[in-house]
Amino acid sequence: MANISLQNIEKYFGDNYVIRKLNLDIADCEFVVLLGPSGCGKTTTLRAIAGLETIDSGDILIDGEPVHERRAGDRDIAFVFQSFSLYPHMTVYENIAFPLRAVGMSNAERDKAVKDVAEILRISDLLTRRPSALSGGDMQRVAIGRALVRRPKALLMDEPIGALDAKLREEMRAEIKRLHIARGSTSVYVTHDQIEAMSLADRIVIMHDGILQQIGKPDEVYLKPANLFVAQFVGSPVMNVADIKLKANGDGATLIMGGADDGFAFPQTALGGVNVNSAEIALGIRPEAVLLSHEQINGAMEVATTNIEPLGSHDIVDVQIGEEVLRARTESGFASGEGQRLWVNLDPAQAHFFDRQSGQSLRSDV
Ligand SMILES: Nc1ncnc2c1ncn2[C@@H]1O[C@H](COP(=O)(O)OP(=O)(O)O)[C@@H](O)[C@H]1O
Ligand SMILES: [Mg+2]
Repeated sequence: MANISLQNIEKYFGDNYVIRKLNLDIADCEFVVLLGPSGCGKTTTLRAIAGLETIDSGDILIDGEPVHERRAGDRDIAFVFQSFSLYPHMTVYENIAFPLRAVGMSNAERDKAVKDVAEILRISDLLTRRPSALSGGDMQRVAIGRALVRRPKALLMDEPIGALDAKLREEMRAEIKRLHIARGSTSVYVTHDQIEAMSLADRIVIMHDGILQQIGKPDEVYLKPANLFVAQFVGSPVMNVADIKLKANGDGATLIMGGADDGFAFPQTALGGVNVNSAEIALGIRPEAVLLSHEQINGAMEVATTNIEPLGSHDIVDVQIGEEVLRARTESGFASGEGQRLWVNLDPAQAHFFDRQSGQSLRSDV
């Protein structure tokens, strides 16, 4: 068990920075997920914590102690890689027991440690098999078991289930969460999959081009994205973003998009402190906050559908507003075809406003 602190860490490969002034405090027993697109510096950050990669400046502290001088083997941190890295000539039992060989343990203690881990991972019946006789999911369970058997201070996982098929990934997600709760280990988990991040994390750390974008609980990054990058990286389908103008009226503003003549009435309370007069505003609105109806509801705008994506449990319906297209989430079969006339409204309570140039949220409560 440990807390981990990254203080202003930077990493360069040649002239290119890969991690830029990263600050992150991970609490004891916390499950933190590093989330971001490929190449944003997640693996490098994780390897730096483990001591598998040097950093160019800043400090890494484990339980309050700087670890620069400590080699990977002396940091008491376990690492699970994306690619299965089991010893093919050893049984599952021997693979899990391997990290214990140098630890002063009696045979009985070692046996108990291996069997305890196997039970948590539900692989007790596989202990005599060799890796070649295992499924992909079981191989990764063994790799996690091998990482956990020593009871390390922290467990680092780099896309550990990224190579598995979708159904198995879903199963393994639940298992990794259960395992974390059972063992209470400090965990740092890397993924580019926002659903994985949302389902596993106590807190999500979103990175882009080596720069930290936002740290927050899953619902915080979803409901209050700090900038356009986070807004569009988290959530599926992607949040709609449209250039808009706000025209002040009596008790709020009219929101105009896509060069339309007409707009949506937004009460003052929904504007989140945005300066109505600023010229460079982008609206962010998730598909579930784009509300379609078959009848003319007060405040709604008449539009035509341009595309329908049936997804079984629901549909994604595109509607055209002036030059903008907004994607709406509807119940299945809500729209009958392209070119259909419908009415659209926006839920002001779920609107986000960003500075078009910097991408930063303009809401004062973010
Ligand atoms: N050993 C290396 N030498 C040079 N560049 C590297 C090296 N390792 C990683 N990089 C670069 O650093 C950036 C971040 O890589 P990485 O941390 O692996 O990203 P991620 O895990 O988020 O996909 C990438 O642009 C990658 O090409
Ligand atoms: Mg990586």
